[in-house]
Parts: sequence; structure tokens; C-alpha cells
Amino acid sequence: METQNLGHSSFEILKKARELERQGKKVIHLHIGEPDFKTPENIIRAAYEAMEAGFTHYTDPQGILDLRETIAWYQEKYRGREVSPERIIVTPGAKMMILYSLLVTVEPGDEIIYPDPGYMSYHTHILLAGGKPVPWKLSIEKGFRHEPETLKSLITEKTRALILNFPHNPTGVTIDRETLKEIIDIAVKHGIYIISDEIYSRILFEGEHVSAFIFEGADDLLFLIDGFSKTYAMTGWRIGYGIIPNRFVGKVVKLQTNTVSCATSFVQKAAIEAIKGPQDSVDFMVGAFKRRKGLVVSMLKGKLDFVEPHGAFYIFPYVGVDSESFAHFLLDEYQVAVLPGSYFGETKKFIRISFANSDENIREGISRLLEAVERFKGLK
Ligand SMILES: Cc1ncc(COP(=O)(O)O)c(C=O)c1O
Repeated sequence: METQNLGHSSFEILKKARELERQGKKVIHLHIGEPDFKTPENIIRAAYEAMEAGFTHYTDPQGILDLRETIAWYQEKYRGREVSPERIIVTPGAKMMILYSLLVTVEPGDEIIYPDPGYMSYHTHILLAGGKPVPWKLSIEKGFRHEPETLKSLITEKTRALILNFPHNPTGVTIDRETLKEIIDIAVKHGIYIISDEIYSRILFEGEHVSAFIFEGADDLLFLIDGFSKTYAMTGWRIGYGIIPNRFVGKVVKLQTNTVSCATSFVQKAAIEAIKGPQDSVDFMVGAFKRRKGLVVSMLKGKLDFVEPHGAFYIFPYVGVDSESFAHFLLDEYQVAVLPGSYFGETKKFIRISFANSDENIREGISRLLEAVERFKGLK
């Protein structure tokens, strides 16, 4: 398999940043896709207790029933719909579930529509599954809105699946119920699978999350993806899940059994505590992200074009220069790390700023960044 097409890695920038740090420079990390908070103490304790109790062996490849029941309970609480634990599969991270969804639905040459800009792994996963990536281009002029009319124009008889992601990485946009319904109706009408990646569903700055899961007519086509990484600051624990059509459960379980076997046993126990335990640390983190979003927006306003994010912890401004060279310039000259827009699709003149960092670092990082943009443009 060709590997050079398998996508960018945000770790390239991280590697360079670490190298600069080794040379004694202080780098401001505005590129990272994970909360800067510690995993809440009660979750850590639950993992520890599970280990102490000897819960350290293989589990049911689908995920322990206790956790699947807890996830089912969570859907009722946060998405307002019941689901049978039989339709839930626990995976080592949401990312793995995205890949499984594509592996079980895509035939060679099938076309898969995905947002561009969008989370960089979608493109890679589509290729790994033998599909043809079809970018659904979102533009800043249209507020990065996902317009149903554009979607219709991309559908052919080869279209097999559609990937949706709200709140959206890298732009932070969300979607209203009517538009999402229109999109789901189009997919259902054409018999297209919907992979709805809702990993940022709890990180919202206003309103309520609209889940693709509320549209019952799509149950037979919908792969709902969620996880614990972002909501509970658990990126390194590797735990996520999917709620998938009944007829695919056996296939995905088989894939999981023959690859990773199961999600880590004691992490599954910790995930139960994450959902069932106190949620004040989630409220605290979301409150902090909202405040920092306000800070970034106020600093960028009038200086760069951007769309105000409504969720997640990213903003995706237009810098008007080649973002890859600019990101390296910014890191080398100003010790600020951001990700080039080119990592997310055709958006080569944008950058992704993550505000999963302290207010102080954001203030310093953004002011250096604004100075760097001006200087970089002057050099061209
Ligand atoms: C949109 C999106 N989906 C999925 C993931 C991966 O989540 P996990 O850590 O659960 O694999 C990320 C992580 O950055 C993401 O941004």
C-alpha cells in the first residue's frame, strides 16, 4: 500500500516544537487537539481500583456490558433517545470506530463524502478502506456552513457514505436541526451510510448539541461515533464507542477481535465512572474553553478573517499566505506552534489555532502570531 498519501501528521510540528524546547526555547503550543486539563481524579481512581481488583485481562471484544449499558443510559440523558447496548461497540478511541465503520461499509472504488476542511484522519481512513475520498468543500465566505445543495451535487451512484462532524474540527462550527435533518434525509433517500463523528458534542459554547441519532429514520444507515478523549480529558486512555446498525455489529466485533482484541479492561471501568460520576470537571473545562474562545476572538477581530466557533476548542482563521511555510516560520521565529490549514484539506491559506491552553499563553501566542503574519507577508 502507498503510504505517502496517508495523510499529514500533526506530530511533525510537535516534533519540531520539542526540538526547540530541547534547545532551551519556550514554545507556546496552540496546535494541540486535546484538553490541557488533567483527567479528573475520580476517573483515575476508578481505573486504579479496577486494576487493584485484578480487572486486567481481555474483555468481551464488544466492550463490557456494564459500560455499554452506561453508554446507553448516557444516550438517553444527552441525546434523548434510548438504545440497546447490543448496538454499542466500545473501541480504543473514537478514531478506531471511524475506521471500522468505513471498513465494513466501503467496497473498492466507492465514493465517500467528507468535510474539507475536516479532521485529517477521515481522508486517511477512506483510503485505508479502499474508498475514493470526495471532499465536501466548506468556505469561509459561507461561514463553513454545510449546505445540503452542495451535498446533493456530490452524490453519484458510487457514493457509499457521508462523514459528518459537529461540532467541527477544525472550524468549531455546529449545525441547526433543520439543516441536519435535510442532510440526513438526502442520505437516507440515496441509501448512503452516515458516519456522524460527535466527539465534541459536550464542548459547546451555546445552544444544545443536535445529534444525527435523533432522526430515527436513519437508524439503518447511521454510525454514531463518540468517545471520552475530549469531554473527560482522556486522550491517552484510548477509549471511544460507536452506535451502529444491528446488521454490522457482528462484523465490527470480528474486526476488533482480530486486531486489538478489546479496549483496555480497566479503562472501560474508568469510562463508567466518567459518565456516571460528577460532571463538574466537564462544566469547568467547557467554561474555560468558552472564556478562551472569547479571548481569541477579541484578539483576532479586525486583524484576520475567521468564523466564530460555537464548539470544540479550535478556530480556523485565514492568514492569506501558504500555511505550511508560515507555520514553520511562526515556530522557528516566534516559538508558537499552530497547524497549517493544508493538513485539513484544500484550505492552504488558513491555520488551525487550538485554544486548549492557558489564557496567558493564548494572549502571548496570539499577539506573536499576529506580528508574525505581518512580517511573513512583508517577506513575500
Ligand atoms: C473530529 C475528531 N474525531 C475523532 C478524534 C479522535 O478521537 P479519539 O481520541 O477518541 O480517537 C479527534 C481527535 O482529535 C477529532 O478531532
